[in-house]
Amino acid sequence: MSRIIIEGGIPLKGRVRIQGSKNASLPIMAACLLTQEAVELEGVPDLEDVRTMSHLLKHLGVKLQHIRQKERIKISKWSLQNYTAPHDYVHRMRASFLVTGPLLARFGRVKISLPGGCAIGNRPIDLHLKGLTALGAEFSMENGYIEAEAKKLQGTKIYLDYPSVGATENIMMAATLAEGTTVLENAAAEPEIVDLANFLNALGARVSGAGTSLIRIEGVSSLHGTHHTIIPDRIEAGTFMIAAAISKGEIILENVLVEHLKSVIAKLQEAGVYVEEIFDGVLHVAMEDKPRPLDIKTLPYPGFPTDLQPQFMALLTLANGTSVITETVFENRFMHVEELCRMGAQIRIDGRNAIIKGVESLRGAPVYATDLRAGAALVLAATAAQGVTEIRVAHHIDRGYANFDQRLLKLGARLRRTERKVQVRT
Ligand code: UD1
Repeated sequence: MSRIIIEGGIPLKGRVRIQGSKNASLPIMAACLLTQEAVELEGVPDLEDVRTMSHLLKHLGVKLQHIRQKERIKISKWSLQNYTAPHDYVHRMRASFLVTGPLLARFGRVKISLPGGCAIGNRPIDLHLKGLTALGAEFSMENGYIEAEAKKLQGTKIYLDYPSVGATENIMMAATLAEGTTVLENAAAEPEIVDLANFLNALGARVSGAGTSLIRIEGVSSLHGTHHTIIPDRIEAGTFMIAAAISKGEIILENVLVEHLKSVIAKLQEAGVYVEEIFDGVLHVAMEDKPRPLDIKTLPYPGFPTDLQPQFMALLTLANGTSVITETVFENRFMHVEELCRMGAQIRIDGRNAIIKGVESLRGAPVYATDLRAGAALVLAATAAQGVTEIRVAHHIDRGYANFDQRLLKLGARLRRTERKVQVRT
């Protein structure tokens, strides 16, 4: 079991380079199932979730090499060995479900375990199934596995009841090899969807409208290989920006796409944080005072991202007044609240709202990283807290942040990590 032990109260200062996006890498890796030709991906972060997707693709037969130090993935000509995505991978990471669309489109068959992932509420897959069914797939369920078959997918008009990121990606990938045109309405518009569409088009697909709520996919008979660079991770960038703010430090972030962070930058500035793009893709973030209180509502892009809600809440625990955060994307994404309260935060939950009364300071305490972003929020809170915080089950953080502790150390944080072997009783 991993623990991160942090002695707080030190302003974080220095430079950090933002890595390629996790949430763009995972669907793009899954999309490699749509072609048998060679693909090279640059900017793929060395993360636990990327390793899980690599293992799953290899299990299916993909010849994949992840050159971690170079953040590169190389895929050479391959052939399908297996059409089953086992429980072990899918349970570990919900994004494993993204192989469903590509496998159906290319091989007409898939068997996949029902997904797991972060413990942030009920996360159904009904929209994925609805879209793929509309394209002609037939689903059945047995023993915790979903099986699907489709002789040939047929383009059609699909309206998503909610702009789900994963459902948009699964349907978009499947539709690239369908017969005729698919029109996807109320689609998600996240930058990661645009990156996936750009990748698919580089493979020879015909996708237009990505980044808006209406995506049009004209089916083609086959796709070829390509070389693609993943966009920078906006959530990682936001996390380091909040790290600068909460610790009253000063951080220069490199490799940032500012247009993907408009809502986050607006909220940081409203809180009194200094944020400026000093060169193309280089952000200067600094904070001297306590943050001002404010209200936030998480929403699909371009709204404020739910994946930065826990980290921003950590910052607002120290505001000079009361803030309200409304979580509209996930129903149970307040698991970090109890942990922040152990550190002295004053937060009350009322349905989908968290009411955060700013306190003078946080105090170190033993806390649990209940999921990936909650873990990041606790690390940030710990850098600002008085005394020592011990963050338990810290391996959750490795799913989304490469070398997080090492990079914080370089910024001046006082922390160490311990790995304790779990004793198995026989
Ligand atoms: C992706 C991101 C995740 C982020 C989320 C929202 C990846 C790998 N993960 O997750 O980090 O927090 O977008 O920005 O990119 N829903 C349904 N039915 C479905 C699918 C989703 O009701 O079939 C609901 C979910 O329960 C949730 C909401 O829609 O309440 C958003 O989910 P979705 O956009 O699908 O998120 P993910 O793709 O799982």
